[in-house]
Amino acid sequence: MRLHLKIWRQARPDTAGRLVDYTAADVSPDMSFLEMLDVINEGLVRKGEDAIAFDSDCREGICGMCSLVVNGVPHGPDRGTTVCQLHMRRFRDGDTITVEPWRARAFPVVKDLVVDRSAFDRIIAAGGYVSINVGGAPDGNAIPIPKAIAETAMDSAACIACGACVAACKNASAHLFMSAKIAQLALLPQGQPERYSRVVAMIDQADAEGFGSCSNEAECEAVCPKEIPISNIARMTREYVKAMMHSR
Ligand code: SF4
Ligand code: FES
Repeated sequence: MRLHLKIWRQARPDTAGRLVDYTAADVSPDMSFLEMLDVINEGLVRKGEDAIAFDSDCREGICGMCSLVVNGVPHGPDRGTTVCQLHMRRFRDGDTITVEPWRARAFPVVKDLVVDRSAFDRIIAAGGYVSINVGGAPDGNAIPIPKAIAETAMDSAACIACGACVAACKNASAHLFMSAKIAQLALLPQGQPERYSRVVAMIDQADAEGFGSCSNEAECEAVCPKEIPISNIARMTREYVKAMMHSR
């Protein structure tokens, strides 16, 4: 396959960026999207040019590092798939593909396609933890939790903190990300000690970081590689109301 790429290049956070045209020749349909970028970078390095900066780590869909908007869609065209698991067979010979970074005020561009997502770390540090000693796995297994609740909590725990939900949202809201953690811990006995302080602290931190609010567009759910449902956001809102009443 021969592909035409328009890739966002931005040297530094404080400089203007622009889309730059590249051609990728001899692309195998079996390559992943990131492997295709690796091949472009090898060509750039051979020519003595600056390689395109982009984030990746596991390349197995579990770490949440890869963060590319492909043809306007965070993580690209495949539903429930991270961009590292997107393969070139999804495209046709001669296609033009646009590649951009996440776009949100709270995720400033560091370089090219790399954004600073440390705002998510600060939200988790504000409340996404349990303070009690919960013991090891055998102790966890000894606590009787109804299967339906355990499975719902586990589904919420599947969030990999990639930030695609923020990138897809017109409000740059972090609600789906936050609600996944809040729902997971609100459902389980281990999460009860901080249940009410957690939801308030995490939402306050998200506001301080510059994330927007939720207007129920469901764009986040549509692009989430772990298919976290927006019913988590409804649960988070209920938790917040309970927290307000609890504090009175
Ligand atoms: S909710 Fe989904 S899209 Fe948002 S950070 Fe978690 S895994 Fe990524
Ligand atoms: S590189 Fe880890 S999820 Fe994509």
